[in-house]
Amino acid sequence: MDQDLNRLRDDALGAIARAAAVADLNTVRVDVLGRKGRVTDLMKTLGALTPDERKARGAALNALKDEITAAIDARAAALEAVELDHRLQAERIDVTLPVRPQAEGRIHPISQTIDEMVAIFGEMGFVVAEGPDVEDDFYNFTALNIPPEHPARQSHDTFYMQTPNGGASPKVLRTHTSPVQIRTMMKEKPPIRIIVPGRTYRCDYDATHSPNFHQIEGLVIDKTSHMGHLKGCLSEFVRAFFDVPDLPVRFRPSYFPFTEPSAEMDIGCSRAGGELKLGAGGDWLEILGSGMVHPKVIANCGLDPAEYQGFAFGMGIERAAMLKYGIPDLRTFYEADLRWLRHYGFLGIDVPSMTGGLGR
Ligand code: PHE
Repeated sequence: MDQDLNRLRDDALGAIARAAAVADLNTVRVDVLGRKGRVTDLMKTLGALTPDERKARGAALNALKDEITAAIDARAAALEAVELDHRLQAERIDVTLPVRPQAEGRIHPISQTIDEMVAIFGEMGFVVAEGPDVEDDFYNFTALNIPPEHPARQSHDTFYMQTPNGGASPKVLRTHTSPVQIRTMMKEKPPIRIIVPGRTYRCDYDATHSPNFHQIEGLVIDKTSHMGHLKGCLSEFVRAFFDVPDLPVRFRPSYFPFTEPSAEMDIGCSRAGGELKLGAGGDWLEILGSGMVHPKVIANCGLDPAEYQGFAFGMGIERAAMLKYGIPDLRTFYEADLRWLRHYGFLGIDVPSMTGGLGR
């Protein structure tokens, strides 16, 4: 090939290789191939040549033109890809959520235990009911068949409130969740099936008693529920809650003013070697109080005891939690010690359900 074409080729390919942007390539294209470009100028000189020379040089020029065009196109494609990459990087929008921070807090074992109990009774068709912590003497005692002079009040010694203007029914911090039985029967028509988790208060303080503690109450009122239902319901409950399918249970005759007959429920355990283990073992552990709702209580709520009947039960929540999760001292529940809570507490994702398993 002629010297001048070679130089032109080197110049053009060099400029193409050095182009840093698509705009630089356009300059090369105009300089070399444009209407006044160097290749075009050379084309114009072909007319002065002999036919043979013209043929050879024309072919060389055309080949050069094709080669430079191809080089420009290839470089343009590469530069465009790089430019697109830069733009994609620069204009990138992060549509993902940042990772959630590690769960910091813990669910207190009392809250967790309440949730577990509610899950089990919920499956049986019970609904949650609530009542106030500061309760009328009437609901806490009198309507539950514990009149003012009744000795049962002694064992429920509690915190009495000053009654404004010497009102008829003094206020007390409720000693049990049973007043919610009364509140519910007075405002709802049977069938009734409620459970009532909540705070309760008594003047007690030692390793197994706290002036503030929690109970869960159950009440079933309809026309047909009897002692057999009470036993079946509570047996099912303790086996599900403690996750011991063949947990032995026994019902001991007892006394509560608001149930007749009354029974305390024990669950089987062993205390061999000083270690308490739930299940068969020949020993028994009291777990709750229960009974058929006393006809007087039903009548006190304005319902006809000849038409309606049912059962009730009440259980300490701390005690159940201590047994299930091996917590040795009741007082630690209220000390707000973070090390304790980290050890015995639950993560927010450990939401109890019957299908997911109730414990951890
Ligand atoms: N309220 C009783 C208590 O605190 C427990 C109980 C509730 C007993 C319902 C029978 C029926 O000891």
